[in-house]
Amino acid sequence: MGEINIMDLVELWTIQLILFCQWMVCASADTHWTYTGSTSQAQWPEVFPHCGGTEQSPINVETSQVQHDPSLTPVQPLGYNQPGNNPFTLTNNGHTVEMSLPVWMGVGGLPWHFTAAQLHLHWGSSEVNGVARTGGSEHTINGHCSAAELHIVHYNSDVYPNISTARTERNGLAVLGVLIETGDETNSAFANIFNYLGRIRYKGQRVSIPAFDVGSLLPNDLGRFFRYNGSLTTPPCYQSVLWTVFSEKVKVSHAQLRKLETVLFSNEKEGLDSVPLRDNHREPQALNGRLVLASFTADSLTIYSVGEVCAMAIGTVCGCLGLALIVRVIVKTIRSTSSWDVLPTVRSTSSPRAKETNQEKKEDVVFKTTSDSEKEEVPPHSEP
Ligand SMILES: *[C@@H]1O[C@H](CO)[C@@H](O)[C@H](O)[C@H]1NC(C)=O
Ligand SMILES: *[C@@H]1O[C@H](CO)[C@@H](O)[C@H](O)[C@H]1NC(C)=O
Repeated sequence: MGEINIMDLVELWTIQLILFCQWMVCASADTHWTYTGSTSQAQWPEVFPHCGGTEQSPINVETSQVQHDPSLTPVQPLGYNQPGNNPFTLTNNGHTVEMSLPVWMGVGGLPWHFTAAQLHLHWGSSEVNGVARTGGSEHTINGHCSAAELHIVHYNSDVYPNISTARTERNGLAVLGVLIETGDETNSAFANIFNYLGRIRYKGQRVSIPAFDVGSLLPNDLGRFFRYNGSLTTPPCYQSVLWTVFSEKVKVSHAQLRKLETVLFSNEKEGLDSVPLRDNHREPQALNGRLVLASFTADSLTIYSVGEVCAMAIGTVCGCLGLALIVRVIVKTIRSTSSWDVLPTVRSTSSPRAKETNQEKKEDVVFKTTSDSEKEEVPPHSEP
């Protein structure tokens, strides 16, 4: 029998301690991920294998490739307009701003009942330097990136007891995606969230906010959307999400977007470096043959190309100019056949020249109104 050597034991313990520490470091590195830098999107699959899967989100929705499915019924928010008496909790988790949702909220119009869990946002850095406009939405439509995107996350409560078990399974989650763009008016629904961002500037901070009608964050038209099978857009990227991306966008003001893009940090308050929390959006992922369904017809999907818009604008201008010319010719013809002097309404102070100027102004007004109203019909409009 060998005698117990104290030095051997110490050595063994030391080795075990080192291994344990290494494991700890690796474990914590495992859960750390970012959108840029050494732990950025391209590296996610190395640590989170699901992120390298074939049914990942977000995607670019190419409207000419989607398939109309008339059986898709409008999304029904359930209990969204019953905020209840308890406040909501708003959290900066270092990756996004997240708001808890009460269990009585849910979504209908899907093959199962889904219970609401939380909502959060993704955004860019378009307004930070006031120069580059990169956009910050995750889903893109025909390659167009919107300013930001709201995700309302629900789990399949018909099949699973809680979100922890649902989030790893196919059809376990249903997420509503709302594309956000900027406009001139302050969006009072989003103000319910944005007004409190200053209280959760750092990772780990949370604040109770007055409960409000969550349905007010949604676009008006819940009947027009894209539907596909995808994943969480953040690690661990489980391919468990039945996605609904609404066609209609909502608008927040430029100031509101700027606030979202500049107020938050992804580090803790005690952190040495301040890392602004922005550009927290994943690149569109490959479709890999997946079908994207649309609840509405291809006709109403027509989105005019830049060339078509130019052609329409030029056509409108030419048409109006032509009309103005005809009106002028007619006016001149009338003038040359009738003398102003014999008209009883003509006052001595107003010369024919002044009349002509007035007439031209009127033509201008007519011309402007026509072209403006026609221009407005070109892009599909949306109100929050
Ligand atoms: C979720 O449900 C599973 C299965 O019933 C259970 O083991 C787990 O503890 C639950 N998790 C939470 C967070 O409630
Ligand atoms: C999603 O996948 C399920 C199978 O799990 C399939 O029945 C359903 O049609 C798919 N939905 C879409 C929108 O492709």
